[in-house]
Amino acid sequence: MKIIGTGRAHPTKVVTNAMLEEFLDTSNEWIVERTGIKERRLISDERLEDLAAKASLLAIEDAGLKPKDIDYIICSNVVNEYITPSLSCIVQGAIGAKCACVDINVACSGFVYALDMADDRIKSGKAKNILVIAAEEPSRMVDWRDRATCVLFGDGAGAAVVTEGEGFLGSRMGAVSMTDCLHYVRCLEPTPYISKEEFSAPMYMNGRQVFKTAVMLSSRDIKALLADKGLQPEDVKYYVLHQANMRIVEAVAKQMELDLSYFPHNVEYCGNTSSASVALLLDELHRDGKLQRGDKLILSAFGAGFSTGTCLIEWTK
Ligand code: UT7
Repeated sequence: MKIIGTGRAHPTKVVTNAMLEEFLDTSNEWIVERTGIKERRLISDERLEDLAAKASLLAIEDAGLKPKDIDYIICSNVVNEYITPSLSCIVQGAIGAKCACVDINVACSGFVYALDMADDRIKSGKAKNILVIAAEEPSRMVDWRDRATCVLFGDGAGAAVVTEGEGFLGSRMGAVSMTDCLHYVRCLEPTPYISKEEFSAPMYMNGRQVFKTAVMLSSRDIKALLADKGLQPEDVKYYVLHQANMRIVEAVAKQMELDLSYFPHNVEYCGNTSSASVALLLDELHRDGKLQRGDKLILSAFGAGFSTGTCLIEWTK
């Protein structure tokens, strides 16, 4: 497959580090030094489904298609207001598409996983034009009294339209069950029969463990994929990494022995938008005219699970 259109939508509310200092025992200096984040865009009066629909329509327009031309939708999402129906189904109605749709939850790796699944579906001949969405509101998963997590996240939605073509050059997907290091647990409805103990709790994250695992697995997978394709690290124009923390991006660049200029970033004004982050950055690069036909790109993300997804694409637009 190949990517033929991208789009994105950010919430309008901009929350700076100074605004967080007003109610948290934190400082702009700490946040910038440890994460690179200066501000994040957070959902206030918007609904995630509307951001997802906006990003989708922009991607479809960029692809030169109409919603009726989309024959499959894959949406990466961890939480939104609906447990069911799926966010992909809600967005399908909002944009006026008529096709099968499915949500996936692979935490922050979801956009890369969804592209990989779209490639399989196109190869199998079961779909022609697939809308891949990554829409996330991690700001609704954290405890806003917990300075170790709430300062890190932002909300947003990114989308891509893919079709038959030769732009998806390879991928490596992985998962290691490590539920202790990052999780978010919600109680379901009570029943007369439940006898086990259950609880709801905001997101828990062991930041240091996530940091180390992310750097180790992301650089390992990127190196393995490049070796598999007979490419040198310099043959890739941009490494579009999950925007979780600028220090993780820098550490991966160091592991790859590459200059930071190969690693575009927007974490400074978006924060960590979970699986939307790679999609948002890809659209930003495309709309800013930074991508040329024939450029090779690595997209790579990691997240709860622990999940990892890396793919090599050629920009064909
Ligand atoms: O999408 C995937 C999800 N997650 C990630 O990618 C997160 C990966 N991990 C990280 O980004 C980093 O581990 C963090 C940014 C979360 C934390 O940075 P760190 O350098 O690992 O700091 P730390 O957790 O070791 O905490 C150092 C200190 C602690 O104080 P003490 O115990 O040394 O007195 C924390 O309590 O910093 C304190 N701290 C803060 N101080 C001011 C933690 N959060 C804050 C804060 N402001 N917001």
